[in-house]
Amino acid sequence: MSEVRTLQIDGKDVAARSDETILCAAEENEIHIPTLCHLEGLSDVGACRLCVVEVEGTPKLMAACTTTVEEGMKVTTTSERLVAYRRRAIEMLFVERNHICAVCVANNNCELQAHARNVGLDHFELPLMHPALPVDASHERFVMDHNRCILCTRCVRVCDEVEQAHTWDVAGRGTGARIVSDLGMPWGSSTTCTSCGKCVQVCPTGALFEKGRSISEPKARRPYLPYLVRVKERER
Ligand code: SF4
Ligand code: SF4
Ligand code: FES
Repeated sequence: MSEVRTLQIDGKDVAARSDETILCAAEENEIHIPTLCHLEGLSDVGACRLCVVEVEGTPKLMAACTTTVEEGMKVTTTSERLVAYRRRAIEMLFVERNHICAVCVANNNCELQAHARNVGLDHFELPLMHPALPVDASHERFVMDHNRCILCTRCVRVCDEVEQAHTWDVAGRGTGARIVSDLGMPWGSSTTCTSCGKCVQVCPTGALFEKGRSISEPKARRPYLPYLVRVKERER
């Protein structure tokens, strides 16, 4: 059974359950921490490192979405060091693939783009990697554009944890990592995909999109996910 922990976030005294993450405790107290791979209703994997915070007595920056609260913890969510770290993390996501917002289906409805705006990222200091990446348009309704993928794994988790189809996986490592369907088959040949569209709805960028449709409409429906998860839990 979880117990109550008391801690400080940005100087504010807060109480949280012992099994809650720093992110959860912060959100409950209306303290905003930027996130990208986190999505309410899915498990957390700590992939994007945008939610990093400082914890007094710990030299390392901690991912708020995967670090559970502890008694007496003193957490800082905003500082020059954190802003610089998050800015660099966003820049790395941009330069690793081919994010050309002006010609992207998600332009102005992209979470990565919004984060870049928020940290004032208007040029890159890191060299662009420009990898030659494929676009999988084999599915009858959806497209996967690896050029825009930031490997947040929301698609993998929603397909596995909510739809329970487990179509997506991550193959490879580092900059060579790719999201793959059915262990490397074209998405259109997948025998597990139910064409539910959940992965498309939760994708924060223009990597997954519906053929012939603006991406802005699915984005507006994203809060449906916690509801779906609750329904699934009742069914079990
Ligand atoms: S459409 Fe549904 S079943 Fe198919 S890959 Fe996406 S989440 Fe999984
Ligand atoms: S396809 Fe979209 S949801 Fe899936 S890992 Fe890439 S960016 Fe994330
Ligand atoms: S939101 Fe915490 S690491 Fe991505």
